[in-house]
Formats: sequence, structure tokens, C-alpha cells
Amino acid sequence: MAICSCLKHLIDIKSLSTKEISAIAERALEIKNGAKPLSLKGKHAAMIFFENSTRTYFSFEMALNKLGASVYNFETSKSSLSKGEDFFDTVNNLAAIGFDACIIRTSEEGLIKRTLEEEKKERKFFKEIALINAGEGSSSHPTQALLDLVTIKEKFNDLNGLNLVIVGDIRHSRVAKSNIELLSRFNVSIKCVAPGYFKDETIENIEWCDNMPDAFKDADIVMALRIQKERIQGIIEFEDYIKNYQITEKNLPDNVVLMHPGPVNRDIEISSELLDSKRGETILNQAHNGVFTRMALLERILGGHNG
Ligand code: CP
Repeated sequence: MAICSCLKHLIDIKSLSTKEISAIAERALEIKNGAKPLSLKGKHAAMIFFENSTRTYFSFEMALNKLGASVYNFETSKSSLSKGEDFFDTVNNLAAIGFDACIIRTSEEGLIKRTLEEEKKERKFFKEIALINAGEGSSSHPTQALLDLVTIKEKFNDLNGLNLVIVGDIRHSRVAKSNIELLSRFNVSIKCVAPGYFKDETIENIEWCDNMPDAFKDADIVMALRIQKERIQGIIEFEDYIKNYQITEKNLPDNVVLMHPGPVNRDIEISSELLDSKRGETILNQAHNGVFTRMALLERILGGHNG
């Protein structure tokens, strides 16, 4: 497969062409199946995580290590951001020091796009530096959607006409929004099931369903979501949620693939019994595929190929 370097940043799913998305997924599976990855030796990446992470942080770090790049943890609380330095100036100084990429996780909506727009205001970066979204606010988590695509492609190959049901905290979930944007491009039909307090009626390309049994009737995949406690003000009705929306061995129809981006709130979104069964294994495969997906993405952004 030819690797193209036209991708300079990863802002969100919207900013990726369908062709680029397919190429990243295909390449991730090639690498998983033994293809030799490109060497990114001599490239330097800073991990700027304002929010906690296990999967995204370490799979980016693992991907960069496997590609031979050097990885540095930018400790946000010990950085000069705490002295009031502006984010654009921070990134520009990292470019001046010699970094090629910043991998950013933030609760601030639009931070990455705004930082890139500063360049248009003639505040030029010292040198080209890639900005990569590792999860931004409640709106976008593009690498999670890409790795979910890889996981679905691995199971079904052809996505056309698949039925996906997303269950849970859709309102606060950047994973749901990026997945809806991505998978609707591949003609996946998407139903969402959530209590009123987790609904977001502004989301396009989905059908809301009132209850899980109706939604699950034709489902090929059920994707549960983490309840985003840190983004919710007020009391969460866990008892009501567990009663009506917890996915269990009993209510998940046979042959339906179970996914969850992690971290899972055990016995809230999914019963422990189901999570620890054979049917829970896809969730760990999602984390596993995160490494190959991020390798494929980094090859494109930092790889320097023109093909
Ligand atoms: N899925 C996901 O983003 O997990 P982390 O928060 O652990 O990175």
C-alpha cells in the first residue's frame, strides 16, 4: 500500500477524507498482520495530556516506540502553562526545541483547531509541527473512532448495511460523536438508546430508540459508553440506569458484537459477568487495535512519503 503524507494534523473526523480513513484502517490491519512499519527514527513527539488516560496515552506511546520515534511526556502541571503561557506559544516553543508532533488530550472544545488557526494570523510556528487530537472535550476522539472502525472491519469486513446500537451517555461522549461521524459515512445504520438526561437531539445521522429490546432486534454491534462522571453536574440516577440500560448476558442477543471504548464502569454500563465472558473480549481487542491504528496514523502524518 502506498503511504501518503498529505495528512499534516489530526483535528477531528470531519477533517479526514473517507479515502484517508479507509487507508488508515487498511494499513492498521496490514501492520497487525505483520507488514513492516515505516521507521520514524529521528522524530520527536510530546504527549500533552490535560486529562487522564490509560489506553490512548499508552497506545500512542507504544505506537511511537514501535516506529522508532522518541516520546516525551509533557507534564502539564509542571510546565510554564501554569505560569500563564499561552498554548500557541507553548507549542511554538516545542517546535523550536525540535518536536515534530504534539499529541493532545484536553477538555477544552476546539483547542486544537484554534491553535492551528493562530498560524493564519501570521503567528507562524518556528517549524512544521503536527497537532494530533487524542480526545477533545465532549465532541471528538478521532483515533478512538478509527480504532473502532479497524475492530469492526476485522469482524465484518464489509460495513455496508451493518446495524450499530450505541447505549448510554451519548450527550457527553466524544467517542459516540466521532463514531457516528465516521461510521455513517460507511452506510452503517445507527440507533442510540439513552435515558433523557444522556440524549443529545442535535446529533445527526442517528435514530433514537426508547428501549434496548427494540433497538437490539436487528443489531450486529452494541457499543456501550462510559458514563462521563467528570462532565456531569448533579446526581446520576445509577439505580435507574442499571435497571434500564445495563448490558448483561441476558439482554444482549446471541451473535451481537459487544464494544466499549473503556474505561468501563463495571456493573454499571456492562455486568461483570458479561465483561469477563468470551463476549467481552472484543473490548480488549479494541485496546489492542489502538496501537496498530495509531501506528498507521503516525506513519501518514510523520512518515514523509509522497505516494
Ligand atoms: N478510550 C479511551 O480514550 O480510554 P482512555 O481514556 O484510557 O485513553
